Amino acid sequence: MDLNEILNKGELSKEEIVFLLNLTSEGDLKALYDKADQVRRLYVGDEVHFRGIINFSNFCEQNCIYCGLREDNFSLSRYRMTPEEIIETAKMISNEGVYTIVLQSGEDSFYDADMISYIIYSIKQNTNLAVTLSIGERRFDEYRAWKIAGADRYLLKHETANEKHYHIYHDRQALHERINHLRFLKQIGYQVASGNLIGLPLQAVEDIADDILLCKELNADMAAFGPFIPAPFTPYKNHKPGSPELTLKTIAAARIVIKDIHLPATTALDSLDKEGREKALLCGANVVMPDFTPHPYREKYLIYPGKRGISDDPLVSHKMIQSRIEAIGRKISASRGDSVKSSYRIV
Ligand code: 5AD
Ligand code: SF4
Repeated sequence: MDLNEILNKGELSKEEIVFLLNLTSEGDLKALYDKADQVRRLYVGDEVHFRGIINFSNFCEQNCIYCGLREDNFSLSRYRMTPEEIIETAKMISNEGVYTIVLQSGEDSFYDADMISYIIYSIKQNTNLAVTLSIGERRFDEYRAWKIAGADRYLLKHETANEKHYHIYHDRQALHERINHLRFLKQIGYQVASGNLIGLPLQAVEDIADDILLCKELNADMAAFGPFIPAPFTPYKNHKPGSPELTLKTIAAARIVIKDIHLPATTALDSLDKEGREKALLCGANVVMPDFTPHPYREKYLIYPGKRGISDDPLVSHKMIQSRIEAIGRKISASRGDSVKSSYRIV
């Protein structure tokens, strides 16, 4: 296969994506990253969009094999923020000049549909924020109620498009269910984000190619590709972390394959490589998701260890990220950064 020919094709096959993910020489990687950077500029411009995260509860009723928040991790000290604390944090984020918040938690049914609706509605009444929910799989009528309350987006990573692996990683859930939820969310007007984990045990580059193609097929508005980091007190605690380089290749390949999509430079990548964010932004990424969870909750959202900025003051950490973005010559967006899909219209 010829690299230049592949980089200039309109549509890439699975085999061609695998070829990109297997590149190793410095020259080839530079060609891949430069092409992804070019496509990024053409389709989503030079602006970097912030999505301010509030991790409002670390209780989780799921037991994903790789995750530090899994229900069977009895060593984790659990917390829940009150609706008022969440709403106040959202207002603070809005005052910082961030235009999107992500309300994120483990799967925690303590927050019933009305409570989540109340939080969304209050935030929409008091700010101009776009509201993203990242609270796992819930009932379809709940998704509908939250859309009516004002939610704009839903983040629900498919984690792996390999059905067998999905079943091994998530003994209580099924891939086809996850895909049904993503399709339903999209159908009722949410902007949807999916994505995977890079470097999970059992994963092959062919699986990653399928993950990229699934995000394309779902017409996802955003896709998060972040490295797996082994977490203590989980069955995968002794496995090795995902490769930062393979993560960058995945982001670059996703940009070249999907083109009109938001791609975040993840905190997990930045936690493994001290220039992870810059590198991702230079090979296709255009979104950064700073953590605004206040102390003392912040340090308890331990999905994986060694999370960058976790012990810092949220505002200090955010300013640091801003200056790193400006240092590589990128602009910080002054808009909500809605979907860039041609099919998407704000209603
Ligand atoms: N390392 C990196 N990311 C993880 N996630 C869960 N566990 C880990 C880990 N050990 C990610 C999953 C999930 C999100 C809540 O965090 O992709 O979607
Ligand atoms: Fe819970 Fe999400 Fe972690 Fe799974 S990945 S255990 S659903 S917080």
